[in-house]
Amino acid sequence: MFVKSNVVVLALILSTCASPVPEEAGTRIDFQKRNALTTEDGWFDHAAAVRQVKYDKNKHRGNLIAVQRNIGLEAFNEGATILPYAGDTSSNDDSSHAKRQSVSLTDQENDSYWSGALSIGTPGKSFVIDFDTGSADLWVPSANCTSSTCSKKNKYSSASSSTSMPRPGNFTIVYGDNSTVSGPIFADTVTVAGIKATKQSFSPVTTLSPSFGSEARDGILGLGYPALSQLGTPYFFTAKAQGAIKIGVFGFKLAKTKSSLYIGGTDMSAYNGSIEYHPVSRQVYWQIGNANLVISNTTVASNLSTIIDSGTTIIYGPPSQVKTFYRKIPGSKLYDSANGFYSYPCSSVPSNVAFNWGGKNWSISATNFNIGKASSTQCIGAIAAQDLGLGSNVWLLGDSFMKNVYTAFSVDQNAVGFATLR
Ligand SMILES: *[C@@H]1O[C@H](CO)[C@@H](O)[C@H](O)[C@H]1NC(C)=O
Ligand SMILES: *[C@@H]1O[C@H](CO)[C@@H](O)[C@H](O)[C@H]1NC(C)=O
Ligand SMILES: *[C@@H]1O[C@H](CO)[C@@H](O)[C@H](O)[C@H]1NC(C)=O
Ligand SMILES: *[C@@H]1O[C@H](CO)[C@@H](O)[C@H](O)[C@H]1NC(C)=O
Ligand SMILES: *[C@@H]1O[C@H](CO)[C@@H](O)[C@H](O)[C@H]1NC(C)=O
Ligand SMILES: *[C@@H]1O[C@H](CO)[C@@H](O)[C@H](O)[C@H]1NC(C)=O
Ligand SMILES: *[C@@H]1O[C@H](CO)[C@@H](O)[C@H](O)[C@H]1NC(C)=O
Ligand SMILES: *[C@@H]1O[C@H](CO)[C@@H](O)[C@H](O)[C@H]1NC(C)=O
Repeated sequence: MFVKSNVVVLALILSTCASPVPEEAGTRIDFQKRNALTTEDGWFDHAAAVRQVKYDKNKHRGNLIAVQRNIGLEAFNEGATILPYAGDTSSNDDSSHAKRQSVSLTDQENDSYWSGALSIGTPGKSFVIDFDTGSADLWVPSANCTSSTCSKKNKYSSASSSTSMPRPGNFTIVYGDNSTVSGPIFADTVTVAGIKATKQSFSPVTTLSPSFGSEARDGILGLGYPALSQLGTPYFFTAKAQGAIKIGVFGFKLAKTKSSLYIGGTDMSAYNGSIEYHPVSRQVYWQIGNANLVISNTTVASNLSTIIDSGTTIIYGPPSQVKTFYRKIPGSKLYDSANGFYSYPCSSVPSNVAFNWGGKNWSISATNFNIGKASSTQCIGAIAAQDLGLGSNVWLLGDSFMKNVYTAFSVDQNAVGFATLR
């Protein structure tokens, strides 16, 4: 059944191994934080999770608007639809307000992203950045953002950079909380781990959603394909085109300790063995097809299309397939139908939850599958049911999956690969 994809996989593995240049030729930046929708005592932070679902839906809604403008939705996935904006109206009952306030400190400490440093301008101004393979634009706060949301942020000032250039147009993206991140467009030198891209388009934003105010990150760097971008060529593609990167590969290690992004190859000290590559089906997202979802030695869904998104905390799948998946876990039940969360008995952790793309089964550990207790006996699973408008059969694999593997993203081969974490 997967003969065809295996051939491609093997060819990719071989061509990687045969490469005269070692994979380890780039540089690494370390991330500071790990994600969690879990409170300090192990409970599921429902209010934070609901906010996260809205954020994820709106992020991908914004992506699809860009895709429609760039290449048309019909050139993307079958069944892709721009869904209505996921606002925060009806679900705001009093109890969720109460929870929201009581967890705000936790949110600050346990943010749902991984951040590292990047600099913009000449001389370089440093920013704390969320590196997101599920979007393609770079934005940071502008010195002209005078709202309290920007007060504790690092800010970009065009007057302080000799290489700053204004560009025509504006940038806008709506995340959660019904608020917009927007600003003008500039080009400047962007440096990540010593790798410079000059004349890189980005947005110094003058409007920043209040939900970002309490977070440690200043902005986001998108590592997706140009078709996903509002601003043109994304950083990694610019750096590759300008020759600043020889090997068009970057690798993610997301773990409790020593998380990092490696640019210009993969960090061979972070994984064992070879990387199992799979071809990107459409150069928009880091999307690979022919996936199977496995639980307890049974394949519960096959021929899935998967998007690997470091900017998403958990895993989202089409509601009917997610329902079928949880049916395999005795004692599991729908916990929150509006947001697609399921619970399962904490004492009977589902065994061997894995995704495979015709090769090895890449398992999700019991620890990574559990995103917190919902009661003294039930825990919430990292797989949630959600239609994000990305197309039929499409799954979004976020950090809950990526934490289990080393992930390589190859622009040279248009492939995503996985390897065993060391
Ligand atoms: C953050 O999460 C970790 C584990 O996920 C936990 O040990 C820690 O106490 C949490 N911190 C806060 C402030 O909630
Ligand atoms: C969200 O924004 C829209 C358009 O500005 C507005 O009509 C709506 O009332 C807002 N919703 C909330 C919850 O603020
Ligand atoms: C901020 O405003 C000043 C004055 O209008 C302008 O020169 C500058 O380009 C603006 N943007 C940034 C990012 O500094
Ligand atoms: C960009 O936004 C500014 C300020 O809101 C506005 O004056 C300008 O007309 C906008 N430019 C474009 C091309 O939309
Ligand atoms: C899955 O298969 C392996 C190898 O055949 C076996 O050792 C294990 O017990 C099986 N697990 C379950 C939950 O059936
Ligand atoms: C992956 O797991 C499925 C379900 O247990 C099994 O059929 C398949 O053979 C496994 N693949 C490998 C390479 O072990
Ligand atoms: C797998 O999915 C693709 C795209 O949705 C479809 O064209 C193809 O026929 C499917 N293959 C199988 C074996 O179901
Ligand atoms: C990875 O390789 C090292 C050295 O060969 C070995 O010590 C370690 O156990 C391996 N780790 C895994 C997860 O296979």
